[in-house]
Amino acid sequence: MMELSRLDLNDLAGQRILVAGDFMLDEYIWGQVERISPEAPVVVVNVHQETRVLGGAGNVVNNLVGLGARVTVVGLVGQDNAGALLTGELQRLGVDMAGLVVDPGRQTTRKTRVIGGNQQVVRIDRESRQPAPATFATALQERLETCLAGQDALILSDYGKGVLTGDVLHTLITAGRQRGLPIVVDPKGRDFRRYRQATVITPNRKEAAEAVGYPLAKREEVLRAGRELCLALDTEAVLITLGSEGMALIPRHGPPQEIPAQAREVFDVSGAGDTVVAVLTLALARWHDLLAAARLANLAAGIVVGKVGTAPILRSELAAALHTQAAPGPAKIISLAELLLLAPRLQAQGKRLVFTNGCFDLLHWGHIKFLEESKRLGDILIVALDADDSVRQVKGPCRPVIRQSQRAAMLAALEAVDYVTIFASEQLPDILQALKPDVLTKGSNYPAAEVKGRDVVESRGGRVVLIPITDPVSITGLIQQICQNGD
Ligand SMILES: Nc1ncnc2c1ncn2[C@@H]1O[C@H](COP(=O)(O)OP(=O)(O)OP(=O)(O)O)[C@@H](O)[C@H]1O
Ligand SMILES: [Mg+2]
Repeated sequence: MMELSRLDLNDLAGQRILVAGDFMLDEYIWGQVERISPEAPVVVVNVHQETRVLGGAGNVVNNLVGLGARVTVVGLVGQDNAGALLTGELQRLGVDMAGLVVDPGRQTTRKTRVIGGNQQVVRIDRESRQPAPATFATALQERLETCLAGQDALILSDYGKGVLTGDVLHTLITAGRQRGLPIVVDPKGRDFRRYRQATVITPNRKEAAEAVGYPLAKREEVLRAGRELCLALDTEAVLITLGSEGMALIPRHGPPQEIPAQAREVFDVSGAGDTVVAVLTLALARWHDLLAAARLANLAAGIVVGKVGTAPILRSELAAALHTQAAPGPAKIISLAELLLLAPRLQAQGKRLVFTNGCFDLLHWGHIKFLEESKRLGDILIVALDADDSVRQVKGPCRPVIRQSQRAAMLAALEAVDYVTIFASEQLPDILQALKPDVLTKGSNYPAAEVKGRDVVESRGGRVVLIPITDPVSITGLIQQICQNGD
């Protein structure tokens, strides 16, 4: 097996993964409980915030995006408000929706949780569990070539809502095998024969027990069930996840491997299975080492169960866990994809996001004062740092003086800065559109009218604040001074 500590997670970025399955919209309505209703013995929740994230197969997508993968989806949504919100969120994350079919006769799967104070009061489910209509299988056939072109692996995320019918599974598994792609299945239901000839299936203990027809209480039973499923389904391996006991990898050839869970504080185990599938698939597609992929997936799942609510794994977190023994603090330098996943979660916690962008070449006192002032306008300060190429375009071939990795590290070392992401200037409007910051700051030496992205921020309900620059420092001037003094 490859040594985990030698894996470079940057190698996972840019891989292309097709995710087919049951996409859902997870809605949260947050509020305060102040009284009991006069109408019925229930609490009245005063709503102050509503948030939405992708659920089901969509949470697998979140995990893939957090690791820098490029995702194409195959699924079904209704022609309803929830469907529009779901596709809007996929679009925000930059997902290719080539295989997403709209079925006007279907209700988009939507789970709405009402949280009063700090507890869930009620969950409202709206969904259809009807098998997808035959027209879906036909539409998929038509789009199959487009959807599969250039993919590195396939994930079939079955939540039992009817999208992955026998026909659809057969089409996808056959096409995936013809192209030699790894096919990873997160199964549901009693009859696993539908997943025959996938590469790996990842049932949890209960799902595996239902499939084999006996309980998986003892270690021997887990291993036996794994072997039986492997043979019956003609898969390369079965990965049975065992909650707090970790996982068991049972390959068709060779001895089974038991992987203990990471001992840590557990907040929320829901969604850990989605993290397992996403990490396992990316690692398998890249390194072709099943055991290393399973161990990495186990490490990632151990991190997400320590987060509040269903949260995807981020590349920076997994990298920190790989390379340090101690529990790492949150990394400050993160990719744009990670930031897109984090921002709505922070805003759901009531945090106000302040955003600023710039080159920050030759960091000086003026920068630090500006960043501290910016941070005071909200709770979380995000700095988008111009990449070296962007700086060259704007300021000329001799700049930046300091390269981007070092500029980012210096910003991250400042207390006022919460996150740094490196970007290309022309991405600015798209980033602001997707991040929806509450405040965008610039130095007052920029004429108000010239603040790039002002329209985008204001149209989304945010504001632009010009921070007074009382004592301007010119970097070009500084450089000239250094040159004169040096010679
Ligand atoms: N209490 C825990 N402590 C440590 N790790 C855990 C714990 N629960 C789950 N995990 C990790 O998450 C992985 C998947 O968990 P589990 O077996 O509960 O999957 P699942 O039931 O499919 O989850 P999901 O709720 O997402 O469907 C485990 O293999 C393990 O790595
Ligand atoms: Mg699961």
